[in-house]
Amino acid sequence: MGRLEGKVAVISGAGRGIGAAISLAFAEEGAAVQCLDIDPTAAADVAAKIGAAGGRSEAARCDVRDSASVRGGVEAVVEAFGRIDVVVANAATVTPRTTVDALSEEDWRDALDVNLTGVFLLCKHALPHLRAQGSGSVILTASQMGRVAYDGQAAYCATKGALIQLAKVMALDHAAEGIRVNALSPGGTATARLERRFGTLEQAESEWGPTHPVGRLGRPEEIAAGAVFLASDGSSFMTGADLLIDGGYSAR
Ligand SMILES: NC(=O)c1ccc[n+]([C@@H]2O[C@H](COP(=O)([O-])OP(=O)(O)OC[C@H]3O[C@@H](n4cnc5c(N)ncnc54)[C@H](O)[C@@H]3O)[C@@H](O)[C@H]2O)c1
Repeated sequence: MGRLEGKVAVISGAGRGIGAAISLAFAEEGAAVQCLDIDPTAAADVAAKIGAAGGRSEAARCDVRDSASVRGGVEAVVEAFGRIDVVVANAATVTPRTTVDALSEEDWRDALDVNLTGVFLLCKHALPHLRAQGSGSVILTASQMGRVAYDGQAAYCATKGALIQLAKVMALDHAAEGIRVNALSPGGTATARLERRFGTLEQAESEWGPTHPVGRLGRPEEIAAGAVFLASDGSSFMTGADLLIDGGYSAR
């Protein structure tokens, strides 16, 4: 019996990296998974992988910046699987690395729109379903950079810090309704995001891996393991927390 047997999860940014790993891990633990991504092909690939392994999964294009698109994604989950037990607000954009004076207003707004408003919108549209059931687990993918600063990443760090606070407020607001809300903060994790930032994953590993006390980058599956815990009843006394899985990065 899987730890998420009978549960239904909706995951944004599910098409690759950490979101894809969470989708696959949830399905392995018995959940039905709705994969949302701005890239519909990537989302469909993940859903197909789950289906091929005998799990239940649907995919839909969803741009988390757009309220109607997010509402449609949430409605599609309920239509496909009848309920929502777990929400993973995971999509984030990549922002150019530069100082505030040089960062364009467009890039600043894009970071806020995807990383912060996108999370707000998914929660806003999904919460009524969780409230009607009287239960649910909401997971906001934040970052170790919500706690420690990284030079040249003002917009990213600001949005990730905000998500940790957002999780705390939502935890207070919805605890009496049986809904738990936690942040999940990865450290450097080997995904396409780092490929874009460092050129190649090998470069990311050799440049950034050693700055993590464990001496390497994380694997998406190691972050997904934390998401499974937060989604499952194993974390039933946990809300308003920030689960940090960062190889010791922020312990310094
Ligand atoms: N990889 C890391 O080192 C790391 C570290 C800390 C936190 N995180 C966080 O983990 C989460 C996942 O990171 P990742 O490395 O897997 O990222 P990634 O860039 O590899 O994947 C992100 C996914 O989100 C999708 N996406 C982007 N904009 C979207 C939008 N507007 N609407 C819907 N989907 C959209 C992309 O298409 C992609 O499939 C992010 O919130 C990121 O900030 C990552």
